[in-house]
Amino acid sequence: MTTKSLTRTEISLHWIVGLGMIALIAAGLYMTRVDGARWLYPLHKSFGIVIFAVILWRVVLRVRKGWPDDVSKGAKWEHGVAWVIHWVLIVGTIAMPLSGMVDSYMGGRGLTAFGLEILGANMGDNGRPVAINRTLGDIGETVHVLLGKALVAAILLHVLGAFKHHIIDRDSTLRRMVGRA
Ligand code: HEM
Ligand code: HEM
Repeated sequence: MTTKSLTRTEISLHWIVGLGMIALIAAGLYMTRVDGARWLYPLHKSFGIVIFAVILWRVVLRVRKGWPDDVSKGAKWEHGVAWVIHWVLIVGTIAMPLSGMVDSYMGGRGLTAFGLEILGANMGDNGRPVAINRTLGDIGETVHVLLGKALVAAILLHVLGAFKHHIIDRDSTLRRMVGRA
């Protein structure tokens, strides 16, 4: 099932989740590569956990309502590429916070959002976290790191596509997503 128009809720959810994902990817890449950026870890995790709730709302809405109708006249392959990228993005929005939480919790570090403990850490006798399930924790970490990179490429293509529609094809694809179509 597809639909022609986008509701205010759909538009708001797209931008909250989209811009949130971009900010979390940037923060994730920065904090893991720059000395002295470790203070970002708890903030990255807290915002990641909170945005997961918004993501679930957005995905349930999208699955129930179906993808919006294509308003462009692009070639068949362009529609195919856009469809694949939309799926990568929507699955990625779920898999990123989920894998981050699996990495942290299974690694024994617990789950805390803005000081609120959701799941406690598994502390060893030496006062350091002990993994609950090292294999699951490693899988979570691998998915989080690899998918993070794949999403950078998918988001770049997605944004380029949006501007191609607006500037070259001059159709209403981008205007509809800002509520002006
Ligand atoms: C500044 C960045 C962005 C721009 C300019 C943008 C623009 C757009 C536009 C114009 C559409 C409508 C496409 C159509 O009608 O076929 C769209 C749809 C979509 N965008 Fe973005 N987007 C951005 C960032 C993101 C990010 C970061 C994500 C997710 C990680 C994302 C996920 C999606 C998805 C899943 C759709 C499909 C329709 C829907 O579910 O609402 N977007 N975007
Ligand atoms: C929408 C949500 C999220 C996005 C887009 C995101 C994105 C990223 C990215 C791009 C990295 C850098 C990976 C690399 O080294 O190349 C990262 C690292 C990390 N993220 Fe997230 N993240 C999200 C949510 C979470 C959540 C909810 C948690 C945990 C509760 C989390 C925990 C971590 C940890 C522990 C690292 C460091 C990984 C490591 O090198 O061990 N993230 N994140």
